[in-house]
Amino acid sequence: MCRPKVIGENDKVRTVNGIRPYIFFDNAASTPALVAVFEKLKEFIPYYSNVERGIGYKSFVSTEMFEKAREKVHSFLGATEEHEVIFVKNTTEGVNKLARKLKEFIGDGKVLTTEMEHHSNLLPWKKHYDTEVIPVNKEGRVDLNLIEEALRKANGKIKLVAITGASNVTGFVNPIYEISEIAHKYGALFSVDGAQLVPHKKVDMSRGIDFLSFSAHKFYAPFGSGALVGKKDILGKGEPESVGGGTVKFVSLEEVIWADLPEKEESGTPVITGAIALMAAIEEFEKWGMDKLEDMESRLHRKLYETLSSLDGIEILGGKREKEDFPVISFVPRKVSPYILSSVLSFEYGIGVRTGCFCAQPYVKKLLKVTAEESDQIKKSMMSGLLPEKGAIRASPSFYNTEDEIETLKQGIEDALSRDKFNYTYDSHLKAFVPENFKFTLPF
Ligand code: ALA
Repeated sequence: MCRPKVIGENDKVRTVNGIRPYIFFDNAASTPALVAVFEKLKEFIPYYSNVERGIGYKSFVSTEMFEKAREKVHSFLGATEEHEVIFVKNTTEGVNKLARKLKEFIGDGKVLTTEMEHHSNLLPWKKHYDTEVIPVNKEGRVDLNLIEEALRKANGKIKLVAITGASNVTGFVNPIYEISEIAHKYGALFSVDGAQLVPHKKVDMSRGIDFLSFSAHKFYAPFGSGALVGKKDILGKGEPESVGGGTVKFVSLEEVIWADLPEKEESGTPVITGAIALMAAIEEFEKWGMDKLEDMESRLHRKLYETLSSLDGIEILGGKREKEDFPVISFVPRKVSPYILSSVLSFEYGIGVRTGCFCAQPYVKKLLKVTAEESDQIKKSMMSGLLPEKGAIRASPSFYNTEDEIETLKQGIEDALSRDKFNYTYDSHLKAFVPENFKFTLPF
């Protein structure tokens, strides 16, 4: 089978240099949809009905498909009989739901997480629990010894270790199965933020992962779904995290009897199309082989790293890269603002990247070696609606991108670095520097 096709992969965009092929290097933020996903939705939409409620042919079809999607997510992640799949909107919603659900289990206990986290795997824990944050080492990696030391010192007070499977800033992959063993050795549960990991690597929850959240919009199925997969005995306890339609067996004005999982934790009408889109994406990658996806991304990773390392005027964030890391690389131009450089890439070369701190401010600030005074200054700038003084550019090609596109990225960076003047002005609506005399227009 040829590699899965992605919608819009041959699209062109208008730039100041005329119409150019669009090079999308922001897959870590959100991926385009697979053609197969769109085809499956076209096939399904005529049957669309609510699930688990209606009596009618299309209702039965919709319910069957929705439950098949649940089974698909379950088997794809190597989940066991102890795990349940709960459809949510995205990883952030999954982690927040888990944080609220675990209140009964964790109580006044502590949560352990790391400085590498996306805000979505940091703020929900900090909001609800006494949370210890393990610093990353000077390479920008999580140090397993520090995790073990924290757990040992806490004497059983740490009830959960919550860590990302891979960083959305550096593409560094964490040894989740080893961390799981350490967490369990000290009696803590283990939760993985799978937003970045699941689209790149085969995950096996049977190897000690108690909870995992991920998003379909980063997995080529951007139609509004994600999943929280986790231990049934814990997720099924107590009241539902959000109550209402679908979460009950019996209601009177005096009494409520809650439904069982998964319904109990899927209040209201779920995003049925999103779940089916996710199933279609998984089926497509299973047909092709996750190992092929990993091989292709490993080649792109090498190429991207070698290319960026060969450029004099930029600094790559984080230390040495390992074979298992994937092509998410953030870098800082030494003499040009990252916000200007990314605009040159976009408006002159048709390359889409992301700029800033990537919803991982503590990690990016650490990698950028931002001092306390600089951090205060950044805070002031941001509070006044200005761009922060520091930030990075992130390039995150994916399996469908090419080495030639990485060469174009190189040309764009070299071109921008060779200039000492940029005719760009800041457009507060687009939140980007825009070339003078260039008017952005919508395609439709
Ligand atoms: N979490 C997404 C990113 O890393 C949006 O860009």
